Amino acid sequence: MKLTKYEEELVDGYYGSEAAKVMEIMLKIGEVYGADELIEVKQVHLATTQILALSGEGGIDFLCRLGDSGVRFRATTVTDPISIDCSNWQRLGITPEFAELQLKGVEALKKLGAIQTFTCTPYYEGFLPKVGDHLAWVETSAVIFVNSYFGARSNRECDASALASAICGRTPRYGLHLEENRVGQVLINVQTELKDVSDYGALGNYVGVLVGSKIPVFQDKINPKPRFEYLVHMGAALATSAPLPLFHFFDITPEISREPEKFGKSHVKEEIVIGKKEMEKARALLNYQDNNEIDYVAIGCPHFSPEDVKLVAGMFEGKRVNPKTEVWVCMSHATKQLMMRTGEIETIEKSGAKVVVDTCMVTSTASKMGFKNMATDSAKAAFYMAGMGVGVRYGTTDQCIKAAVNGYWS
Ligand code: F3S
Repeated sequence: MKLTKYEEELVDGYYGSEAAKVMEIMLKIGEVYGADELIEVKQVHLATTQILALSGEGGIDFLCRLGDSGVRFRATTVTDPISIDCSNWQRLGITPEFAELQLKGVEALKKLGAIQTFTCTPYYEGFLPKVGDHLAWVETSAVIFVNSYFGARSNRECDASALASAICGRTPRYGLHLEENRVGQVLINVQTELKDVSDYGALGNYVGVLVGSKIPVFQDKINPKPRFEYLVHMGAALATSAPLPLFHFFDITPEISREPEKFGKSHVKEEIVIGKKEMEKARALLNYQDNNEIDYVAIGCPHFSPEDVKLVAGMFEGKRVNPKTEVWVCMSHATKQLMMRTGEIETIEKSGAKVVVDTCMVTSTASKMGFKNMATDSAKAAFYMAGMGVGVRYGTTDQCIKAAVNGYWS
């Protein structure tokens, strides 16, 4: 692999032994994927979830050692959700031992120079990549969205590779960094009305099952301008049911808008039509149980935008949630702070629902808290929570809020 002077210095330990070690990881990945060089990354989105939660004590110790070694992040680095709400973990039923370990990791990230966004939607916080920017991002929903909606270029990184990119400011040039791997492969012709985040999540999940790793190109003349947040849900679901890091959407996503002829029938030969019947199947796929008693309602996956908060606050206004039902509304710390100013957070919490930040229903220990049946409007949360043994009812945001109030699904 061709290396610049700076990259050779990294390998030779000029920037310290920790930086040399992570360079080794990066070069190995590059070699496996046939990369001919490294490229500079504009941003890194770091998988704190894997490092801080899944790896447990070992992962946290590793981060602390890195922080103590004096190495610092070279690239602008934002962070994915962790497993606790940093300032309110007690009221979520998280044990002090678990929280202490997480907070140790949070301190190490601070030392390393991470911007502690703790969200899967850093673009709501102003981390907005430009078309063609090379990134090293992790997390299914985040990667597919920056690639598709913003036209930036990132492979689906793992915790180790993203950490290496944060420290070295580089990533191997392969996969989605190359133009030829970003072309659409299957036309998805939507011919029915879609009304809610749950419709877009169901569509994404269903299409992911059908296309696998082929890049879908959406054409939707019935709903030509879906809300930004609808596409966030669709992307998250697509990347959950399939190993997909990219989609195109006619008249919306930048790559297709610049060269629409590249995505026409002469290039994209396969076509799938989505009508009313297909959408019924798509919704049914995400209802993992038929029990109507609901003891947990969780919305805000991917993390809510300010506009989502406004919408949902209006739905909670004047209502009380069922005392036997735990209700989480998940978002980033920054979004919560912003929406506290306009009163929406107070409206949501007045109902008895909890506004949860820095974490979510999936990355926290919610699946181990004894909830039996959850209601959600998120296809991604439905998929993961069902996989972790919680019964799931999937439906519109309105249905979820009714379930929060009544304690049952209707
Ligand atoms: Fe984000 Fe958690 Fe969902 S990380 S995409 S809110 S599973």
